Amino acid sequence: MNEPLNETPEPLLPGHEYDGIRELDNKLPRWWVWTFYVTILFSVGYLTYYHVLAMGDLSAAEYEKEMRIGNAIKAAAIAKFEGTWETLQPSTDPAVLARGKATFQLKCAPCHRHDGGGLVGPNLTDDFWIHGSKFADNVRIIWNGVKEKGMLAWKEQGMKPDEVIEVASYIYTLRGAKLEKPGKPPENLAPVQTGPSEFE
Ligand code: HEC
Repeated sequence: MNEPLNETPEPLLPGHEYDGIRELDNKLPRWWVWTFYVTILFSVGYLTYYHVLAMGDLSAAEYEKEMRIGNAIKAAAIAKFEGTWETLQPSTDPAVLARGKATFQLKCAPCHRHDGGGLVGPNLTDDFWIHGSKFADNVRIIWNGVKEKGMLAWKEQGMKPDEVIEVASYIYTLRGAKLEKPGKPPENLAPVQTGPSEFE
């Protein structure tokens, strides 16, 4: 039972034995050797095509090219969005409004309050608008922001046109909403503090 499976002596490399570990000189399988030759041939072709004749783009150039194509597609989509938002109508699709609400609670509520009543940002439920009351005005402000006043330009925050339309459609539904807690008074009509404030 203990007969060795292979009768041929092990192809030892004489002198290659250290601490009882011996190195064998087995023949490489033919398929391996042929694959190796193919890789050498391939490398010659590759080198000639890409580096000697410079017929193909290297990775960096290919990346630049794809980025240029991608940016052109993006710029065209943005130009289309900015060129047609005057004609946009707020959506009433419940799925769109639900997505808009989720965005609002996550990104807008910290400044406009969870119900749109206003905190740092103005009240979005009243009849007073700083930048115009049309749906398109809201879309434009959300997209471009009013940076000097603290309203972010959401296009720079990675928000897509569709998401802007969703959240603008949602805040459109907040107009005239009955709030549990009174909303922020309109900016230009806010009462003027004359006496010492309650914190003084
Ligand atoms: C960091 C605070 C902040 C965040 C976050 C923020 N806003 Fe604003 N927003 C403001 C401020 C401040 C203004 C008022 C700008 C002004 O006075 O010109 C404003 C104005 C607006 C206006 C115009 C209101 C008007 O009266 O014309 C809209 C619409 C609006 N925000 C929507 C949004 C939406 C939608 C989001 C979430 C995607 C959002 N905001 C997130 C601070 C914020």
